[in-house]
Amino acid sequence: MTPVLTFMVYRLALHPTNFQIIRDELKSIPNTQDSQELQKLSHLNAFIHEVMRVHPPILDGLQRNTPSEGVIISEQYIPGNVTCLAPFHTIARRECQTHYLISRFKLKNGFTVESCFEDAEEFIPERWTTAPHLTKDKSAHMPFSLGPYGCVGKNLALVFLRLTTAFLVHNYDIGFAPGEMKSTIIDESNNTVTNNPGPLKLIFKKRRHQTEFGDGVDVNDGHGLC
Ligand code: HEM
Repeated sequence: MTPVLTFMVYRLALHPTNFQIIRDELKSIPNTQDSQELQKLSHLNAFIHEVMRVHPPILDGLQRNTPSEGVIISEQYIPGNVTCLAPFHTIARRECQTHYLISRFKLKNGFTVESCFEDAEEFIPERWTTAPHLTKDKSAHMPFSLGPYGCVGKNLALVFLRLTTAFLVHNYDIGFAPGEMKSTIIDESNNTVTNNPGPLKLIFKKRRHQTEFGDGVDVNDGHGLC
């Protein structure tokens, strides 16, 4: 959960237009901490999915062993007792070279796999909403994995991500701290099964909300920066 939240605030700071769209969406619901209302906000949900596509919380996926008699996947025979994985990070990118790739996608040019996303390196939440042509195969997005061993906490995790993102966007302005390179979070990230982000320095500034009388009130106590 922590890596997703870290990349989430990073992307909120990096994409102010997206930040503003989410903030505007939040104005359309009476209670920004109502998880059922948040589920209906298209850009908020697209943003969360795009964060997990570009920064998969588990980079390589988890391993599976083939049955002893072997298995055929996408016309490709995989011998028995072979440990395989479907690397989430690689699948989310354009073309890739990999030796043991288990997927439903057709293998082309040896071990090169066709892209599932247009402009796969770009952060474009609209690929999940108004620009579906940028997503060629939705099922390639599987940060919680699939099947009987997929994540049982998926729905709870999504509720938590929506609530936290909505709370931050509604109550804070988020920006990069002076001197923040904006790239160390990725350049110094580590693959420790989970996607461990590198350092990131942000400034969270509390917003003043307008009351019905027109005067601003702090949503929290404190000095404004944290
Ligand atoms: C963003 C947050 C999360 C992500 C990205 C995530 C992702 C995953 C992934 C990829 C798996 C492996 C599935 C497989 O082996 O194919 C998994 C398994 C699991 N997750 Fe999550 N998870 C998240 C949050 C949670 C939460 C909040 C809970 C519990 C409240 C949870 C409980 C579990 C459990 C129990 C398994 C093992 C399922 C099994 O082996 O039967 N996860 N998760």
